[in-house]
Amino acid sequence: MKTVTCTAPVNIAVIKYWGKRDTQLILPTNDSLSVTLSQDILHSKTTISAAKEFEKDRLWLNGKEEDITKNKRMHNCFRETRALRKQMEDDAAAKGQPLEPLSTYHVHVCSENNFPTAAGLASSASGLAALVYTLSQLFELTISVSDLSRIARQGSGSACRSLFGGFVAWEMGDKDDGSDSRAVQIAPETHWPELEALICVVSDAKKGTSSTEGMQHTIQTSPLMKERVKIVPERMQAMKDAILSKDFQSFAELTMRDSNQFHAVCLDTYPPIFYLNDTSRAIIRLIHEYNSSSPDGKLKAAYTYDAGPNAVIYAPKENMREIIQLIAHYFPSNNDNYFNDHYQVLGEQSMSGEFKPQGHSAFNENVIPVHPEGSVSRLLHTKCHDGPRVLEQSESLLNDEGVPKRLA
Ligand code: DP6
Repeated sequence: MKTVTCTAPVNIAVIKYWGKRDTQLILPTNDSLSVTLSQDILHSKTTISAAKEFEKDRLWLNGKEEDITKNKRMHNCFRETRALRKQMEDDAAAKGQPLEPLSTYHVHVCSENNFPTAAGLASSASGLAALVYTLSQLFELTISVSDLSRIARQGSGSACRSLFGGFVAWEMGDKDDGSDSRAVQIAPETHWPELEALICVVSDAKKGTSSTEGMQHTIQTSPLMKERVKIVPERMQAMKDAILSKDFQSFAELTMRDSNQFHAVCLDTYPPIFYLNDTSRAIIRLIHEYNSSSPDGKLKAAYTYDAGPNAVIYAPKENMREIIQLIAHYFPSNNDNYFNDHYQVLGEQSMSGEFKPQGHSAFNENVIPVHPEGSVSRLLHTKCHDGPRVLEQSESLLNDEGVPKRLA
């Protein structure tokens, strides 16, 4: 039996992917760009075993067995990676140096997230990226990460961007077969270490409209979406320039504008799709208020929202402590897990366990009131980080028989 375990990161787009021109191959209607976030905070972990003795492909997600045959997108990822392995086996056999026929074995897949699934925290991106990356390691594929991203794309569009660390673009491509629709790294994680992120978990609940369903309704019914598709190319270029020159002012404005436009096309979908709730909108107001209070007029933070109510705030490291204190003041905690000071930004305060939320003297109380406890349930402080990691055998989620060590 051959077993490999890997983790893959979450990515949060600053230019959003929304809409497909081909729903089978998952080809998007515009380019998108994301920041890969640290796997130390959020990740999907996947173990895959392949053995001659396995009678069928099996899948366990978060400790529960699922029917793998029902998951067409995962099936596509298996088919594509197995085909590449088969090619390698045929080439090796032709040279008289046969490889183990892994492409003919069934596999057992066990995958876990260290955060709630479908809470708008990009679980499909990290989950499918972990699956495809682990398959590529299991089969010892020699293709480039960008080529592998074309396979991950077919699992879930945004998954293609989670195969790289740092700042990642998904180039939409224009070919019908999707061969030019792939992820590329714009800059590595080491490029802009001052840029950090704070995820405000507004709701752990499963979302109402899935991205897959929602985006097609937008394409079919939203006139505004046609305008968006024309605007994105210029915005992509401006965003790449902002990242390469570490220009937080442009990065922040583009990020907020693109998030707002994405939620505007959701509202323009008929019937409309609502991903933001009152707390999400209050955080938007708070960030604008915070930015207008800045003495030199410079933007200090930017928000972005995916297909759910959770806010992701991007900001330079130097502002993070203040932002955490502000959010904790206006959206107070109702639990002990509210904030784990992983990066020790609160210094002495967090070490003594004494966490001091702090309001802002310049804020208008009518615009930014203190919200009920628990409106924000958790704050996750994270950074731009690396792509998928291969773990030691001891980290395997499967035992020597190829069944999960732990079940739900
Ligand atoms: C709002 O990648 O989840 O997060 O391709 O149908 O699986 P499918 O959709 P998915 O959509 C993500 C949409 C988004 C924006 C983004 O990540 O770019």
